[in-house]
Amino acid sequence: MQKGKIMKKVCIIGASGKLGQYMVQHSLDKGYQVVGVCREKSAGKLDKFKGRITVIPGATNNREIIKTAIVGCDGVLTVLVPWGVHHYSSGTAQAVLDYARPDARLIFSCGWHITLDGQDVYSQTFKTVVKVISRLARFVRAVDIDDQVEACRRIFASDTRWTVVRGSDLEEGVSQGLPVWSRHIGDPVLASNITRRIDFALFMVEALENDELIHEAPAIVGCQTPSALSKETGSKKLKSE
Ligand SMILES: NC(=O)c1ccc[n+]([C@@H]2O[C@H](COP(=O)([O-])OP(=O)(O)OC[C@H]3O[C@@H](n4cnc5c(N)ncnc54)[C@H](OP(=O)(O)O)[C@@H]3O)[C@@H](O)[C@H]2O)c1
Repeated sequence: MQKGKIMKKVCIIGASGKLGQYMVQHSLDKGYQVVGVCREKSAGKLDKFKGRITVIPGATNNREIIKTAIVGCDGVLTVLVPWGVHHYSSGTAQAVLDYARPDARLIFSCGWHITLDGQDVYSQTFKTVVKVISRLARFVRAVDIDDQVEACRRIFASDTRWTVVRGSDLEEGVSQGLPVWSRHIGDPVLASNITRRIDFALFMVEALENDELIHEAPAIVGCQTPSALSKETGSKKLKSE
């Protein structure tokens, strides 16, 4: 296990969302100085962290906001969300890639539908669900999944120190511990397809200090799920020590 450089200051882009708030808490637990970016109207959701984090209100795809927020950060945790049809995801990702310090660790969130090397094996049901949701969402101009794909294409092509964490279906609940991961969907260890959101956030934060995950797109699943417990082969555990 290769340990990364010492993290002192991290920025969380999309800090007010469910995943973001968990990442704020995990980052504070690790003693990091935290800067959070969130939409102005959502800043109140971070009141519980008042006095412990710096909040920069603004659209999370606003290049100037991102530039200001990530100055001096050793790590950037980005919640990639495909909202609207105006390149929200790719705009956010590009700003982070352009303005982060060259040696900063960049961790991005997305779902299993993203593929790094085309070697993922998806079930017919999964492919159909993604296709239907993508078309419907694009039709009502609410969500643009293709733009999240484009965001990840740009991240994968960059020479920054990135990791793209691919979340399974999510559920709420108390932490079960660090998820296990695999390079490819289709690995039996991932078959349960469920992770606690709090643990997705934990994996993102732990990835900051794990250089083995640089230029990887780990697909994760809860460590207490049946598939994780029964199929150790092919799975990887992310240790923080
Ligand atoms: N949901 C799932 O089942 C699932 C599964 C696998 C992977 N993921 C990945 O997990 C990450 C977090 O997703 P999540 O579903 O758990 O949601 P989440 O953590 O609540 O995050 C949603 C984010 O989108 C922002 N947002 C909401 N509406 C918006 C709008 N109209 N314009 C701009 N920003 C808006 C929210 O900000 P505000 O606080 O301002 O509303 C928040 O930062 C994403 O990268 C997603 O791809 C999710």
